[in-house]
Amino acid sequence: MAIVSDGARRAGESIRVVSEFADQFLAADADGADFTFGNPHERPLAGLVAAIKAAAEPNGNDWFAYKSSVGSATAAVAASLGAEMGLPVAADDITMTQGAFKAIALAFDLLLNPGDEVIHPKPGWFAYAPILAHRGYVGVHTPLDPVSYDLDIDAIARAITPRTRIVVVNSPHNPTGRIYSRARLEELAGVLDAASERIGARIFILSDEPYRRIRFDGAAFTSPAAVYPWTLIDYSYGKILLSPGQRIGYLALGPLMPEADRNALTAAIFPVQTALGWGFPDATMQYAVPELETLSIDIPALTAKRDRLLGALKQWGYRMVDPEGTFYLWGDAPGGDSLAFARRLAERKVFVMPGTLFHCPRQYRLCLTATTEMIEQALPAFREAAPA
Ligand SMILES: Cc1ncc(COP(=O)(O)O)c(C=O)c1O
Repeated sequence: MAIVSDGARRAGESIRVVSEFADQFLAADADGADFTFGNPHERPLAGLVAAIKAAAEPNGNDWFAYKSSVGSATAAVAASLGAEMGLPVAADDITMTQGAFKAIALAFDLLLNPGDEVIHPKPGWFAYAPILAHRGYVGVHTPLDPVSYDLDIDAIARAITPRTRIVVVNSPHNPTGRIYSRARLEELAGVLDAASERIGARIFILSDEPYRRIRFDGAAFTSPAAVYPWTLIDYSYGKILLSPGQRIGYLALGPLMPEADRNALTAAIFPVQTALGWGFPDATMQYAVPELETLSIDIPALTAKRDRLLGALKQWGYRMVDPEGTFYLWGDAPGGDSLAFARRLAERKVFVMPGTLFHCPRQYRLCLTATTEMIEQALPAFREAAPA
């Protein structure tokens, strides 16, 4: 007799491939070279530790009272997000969340009814699927361009049905590192406007931007919120500070959204955050936000790791995408079987993420949060496994 809910079963099924990978491969030796998940392998940023310590010091009796979005946090976010977008952003349009994860769940619960469809990219982050499946929403994997990994606007247009309510745009993109141009986003906006008219329901963009500030070589970034009014932005500090265990991020209503829609969403946010099991972050992390806004991992050091690993792989004949942002590398697995490739490397204590986790069994992902020592340790194994 099944004791778990249908939603729990659906969530489990949709993320099984990730759990199996973690079980099989990540008995990772402490002395292995770990290129799997976006986790830190070095001490946290000193500035982050100082900010959390300072924020933990009480400044009143209600310091650790129940907190929804803290005003100093939303004001700091509105100022920096507005400056990045070149558009005025109101603090009232920002909701603090437990990272991007919870902001995504909040966006889905604000906009979707069971059976509604969400278009999300393939390859793409593997946790949209369980968040959707658990609640009875329908995820529709829609392929990116198979060569450039740019948005495939025709594929998105073909995937739209009368039940489509959200298109997830993730730029810079996990796992390929692609950043989508303003022109491509404008094309998408045109398609979504026309389709919303046709189906008689507004299709929103959820702009999943946790890697927005991790960009290489001065690459420009345009948020879909700057070109399509019905956009929600989710963000996490877990990437730029490499501290995903400290849950802090936000959901922002796009600054161009018509007032009536903005008001309807604003009124729904507190009830939904409560229904999510108090989706607001810990008070301490919220107090730290103005300081967190000033901090970043070392992007030049990350760029150097990208150049070292990507340069070596390309020299040995690996077909790889040149990432414009994120901390990932994505490429074709030699022999076309990413699981076999991952197993072969694991025998040499080098751990990579097979594309099966992204519904792309011929490709694989490397995470550049691995240390320079891990990269040097792994290079001989990559050389040995290089395409013939
Ligand atoms: C594309 C994408 N969106 C959202 C998230 C969730 O970020 P966080 O765990 O910081 O909330 C991740 C984390 O890997 C991600 O890669």
